[in-house]
This record gives sequence, C-alpha cells and structure tokens, in this order.
Amino acid sequence: MSHNLSSYLDENRDRFETELAEFLEIPSVSTESRYTKDVERCAKWLAEHIESAGVSKVEVIPTAGKPFVVAEHVVNPDLPTLLVYGHYDVQPVDPEELWDSPPFEATVRDGKVFARGSNDDKGQVHMHIKALEARLKTGLGMPVNVKLVIEGEEEIGSVHLESFLRENSQRLACDAVVISDTGMLGPDLPSIGIGLRGLAYMEIQVDGPSGDLHSGSYGGAVTNPALALAEILASLKDENGSVTIPGFYDRVREITPEQHAATEALPFDEEDFRLETGSVSLNGETGFSTLERLWYRPALDVNGMISGFTGEGAKTVLPAQARAKVSMRLVADQDPDEIAELFEKHVMSLAPEGVRVHVKSLHGGWPWGANPDSPLFDAAAAALEKPFGREPVYVGEGGSIPIVPLFEEIFEGPVLLLGFAPPGGNAHAPNEWMDLSVYHRGIETIARLYDEVAHKGV
Ligand code: BES
Ligand code: ZN
Repeated sequence: MSHNLSSYLDENRDRFETELAEFLEIPSVSTESRYTKDVERCAKWLAEHIESAGVSKVEVIPTAGKPFVVAEHVVNPDLPTLLVYGHYDVQPVDPEELWDSPPFEATVRDGKVFARGSNDDKGQVHMHIKALEARLKTGLGMPVNVKLVIEGEEEIGSVHLESFLRENSQRLACDAVVISDTGMLGPDLPSIGIGLRGLAYMEIQVDGPSGDLHSGSYGGAVTNPALALAEILASLKDENGSVTIPGFYDRVREITPEQHAATEALPFDEEDFRLETGSVSLNGETGFSTLERLWYRPALDVNGMISGFTGEGAKTVLPAQARAKVSMRLVADQDPDEIAELFEKHVMSLAPEGVRVHVKSLHGGWPWGANPDSPLFDAAAAALEKPFGREPVYVGEGGSIPIVPLFEEIFEGPVLLLGFAPPGGNAHAPNEWMDLSVYHRGIETIARLYDEVAHKGV
C-alpha cells in the first residue's frame, strides 16, 4: 500500500470515528414504524457521506418500504467490478434499560464504540466508504470499479431486495460481490466466511377460551393455552438436543472429515465462548463440537413467548391466548419452505384438546456455502494479512444473510464474506459494540483489497 494511503488513514482516524458516531446516532430501526423518518434520514445521510467521499454517482432510491442507497464508481469498464452489499438498518434496542450508555449515542469505552448498529452493520458499511474515500482523496484512484447497494430492510427480511436486484441487474452488473456483515473468530483473527445458515422463522398462536378467565373459577376445567404452547415447544427437541420434527434432518449433509479437521484446527476456545454467552454451560446436539453445532448443524430456538399476566405481583388469570416466535437455522441442503411446511404439519399434530393452534411462516432464507478456491478468496487473504499481521481463518457463520445465494445467481459471480464483527459484539442485544482497532484495520484491508483484486482477479 502506498505511503500516501497509510498516512491518510493515520491522519484521519479521529475524523473517521466522529463520522461513524454521526452515522450510528441516527436510529435507523427498520422493524418499528415510529422510526420510518429516521430510516429515511439515515439513507440520505449515507448517500451524502458517500458523495463527499468522492464517489461519482450516488442515489437514494425509494421503495414501498425503506429506501436503497446505490452508488457507482466506475473508472473503466474493462477493470473488474466489485459490488458491495450492506445494510444501514438496525435491530430494535429493547430491553433499553440494559444498555450501559444510550443505544443511539456512540460511546467509546476501552477502545470500543458502543451503539446499536456499531457492528451490525453500520460500522462495517462505514469501513467500505472510508476505504473508498482514502483511495479517492489521496488521488490514487481506483484499480477496480466499485458499486454499492446498501439496503434498509435487511433486519426485516430484505423485502424489496430481490426485485430491486433483478430490475437493476444491468446497472449493478459486477464480477464479484463483497459483503461485510459477518463475524470474526477473534479481534486478531481475520476471518473469511465460507458458510451461512439458512432460516425458517415461524409464529405459533394457541387460542383457548374466548377471553381471559379467572384462574380460580375456571382453572382445571379448560385447557390453558400457555401450558399447551409450552408442551408443544418442549416436545420439539429430544433429550439429545435433536429436533423432533419428522423429516427435519432428511436433507442435512453429513459433516465431511475435511470440515471436521478444519474446524478442530481453529484457534477456538470453548471456555472463552462460554464466558461470552454468560451461560452456565454449553449445550447442544449430542456428538458435535460447539463450532460444528453452530456452522454445520441446524438449530431450533424460541425467540420469544407471550401469554397472560406478566406484570408486577400476582394476578390470577387463565389466559385466552399464547404465542411464540420460533426460528430454525438451516444448513445445506435444507429448503426453508419445506422446513416451514414440516414444522407447521408437526406443530398442528401436537395441538392438545381444547385449544386451536395456528402456525404462520414469517420469513426464511436458504443456507449458503462458498467455493473458497477462487482468486477472490486469495485476494481477500492477501489484503487481510498486513493490517492484521496474520493469514485469515476460514469460518462458518451461524447467522443468516438470506440474499447471498441470490447475489450469486443474479450476478453469476462469487460472493466474499469479509466480516469484521468481533465475537461477543452483542449484535441484536444490549451494549452492541465495534472494536475501533478492528474498524481501522478493516478500512485498510478494504483499501488493499482493491489492489489485490486488480492483480489476482476474482
Ligand atoms: N449480520 C447478520 C447476519 C449474521 C449474524 C452473520 C451472525 C453472521 C453471524 C444479519 O444482519 C442478521 O442479523 N440477519 C438475520 C436474518 C434476517 C433474515 C433477519 C439473522 O441472522 O437473524
Ligand atoms: Zn447484519
């Protein structure tokens, strides 16, 4: 990397952090309609910020939902083109009382910036913009073309992304897609993502009596929907931690000896991971290591349950209804629609007498696996090496980015998951943070990636 570039990055560290704070302080929560204006303001802020980085063509594109921010910096159509995808929307902040500093006030403690979106995904999106800025403001120019598509609906299932990509496939045409929206195995372990789990997200509703009842006058004489729901949920896993839905594992690929060996060889400390979770022990499907459970095995989890009286003190009531949100993380070759159907059929068959059970599929996505034998992966490995001082590790991801397979299909090119979210970074939880040292090393990595791609191709 040229001397100019590294001194530009050094000289502008504080300003980058100030601007990142500004970005993080816009509450771009896509899941709650009261933030609609803020989400739009965030898109506008982002577009202006990309423009002032020196990118020639930037646009905020409205949709029936949240707007896209699209930018193009095409220097020469003969050069390789990278399409960068990210999201500027964030998850809700609740429970807000558990934050040590306000979620939309970027607060630095111990070299970390705390704010909603700091790692998922505004912090990582910002790295890409600063890397572009560094190239453009130092007059070095770009050895590749870069396009950006940053959406505001990722956390609600990328509602408009597929049609947008298909309609704009010419304009967004590229040789490879780069996504920084995944994790690192450690703050000093540069990581390239080679897999993502898929998702089937369901809601179960159990209806009992037509209204809440006095639990003394009626308890024992009618089925309690909260208990009925609890029985259904409890039966979805057996004593080995396996999911009991018939057919659930039919398409799950066996872990290969290579995958097993590669996972075993990673510098992963189970006890550190346990501490990160704050759980008393790590538990899961019998016969698999923690990383295998996260990366190569499907999972079923209750994300939330609601029923009856949950306020202070005791109120004697037999609730009319109980609901639960259930997610299933899927692995190759599970099909999210098929799994949703199997789930629905099974849960309906478990309905006890005296209640009506409804099952709804909220959203889903396919699992994904990379082909790491491509020049793009070599380019990424080379770009990471200097800023992080070691070669990268190749990691699976327990989370989901359902649009990744879609990018591959539409643009007929590889997808690179170049993630910078630190382990324990509290994405989707209170006190989300990004390590500022990783943030700056990430910017340098991306600035180097352009050169590496120019040399190695994709
Ligand atoms: N950045 C995450 C995806 C992720 C999480 C990748 C953990 C790797 C490790 C993304 O923003 C996200 O949260 N996705 C949702 C899925 C979506 C359909 C709501 C998820 O995984 O829950
Ligand atoms: Zn994300």
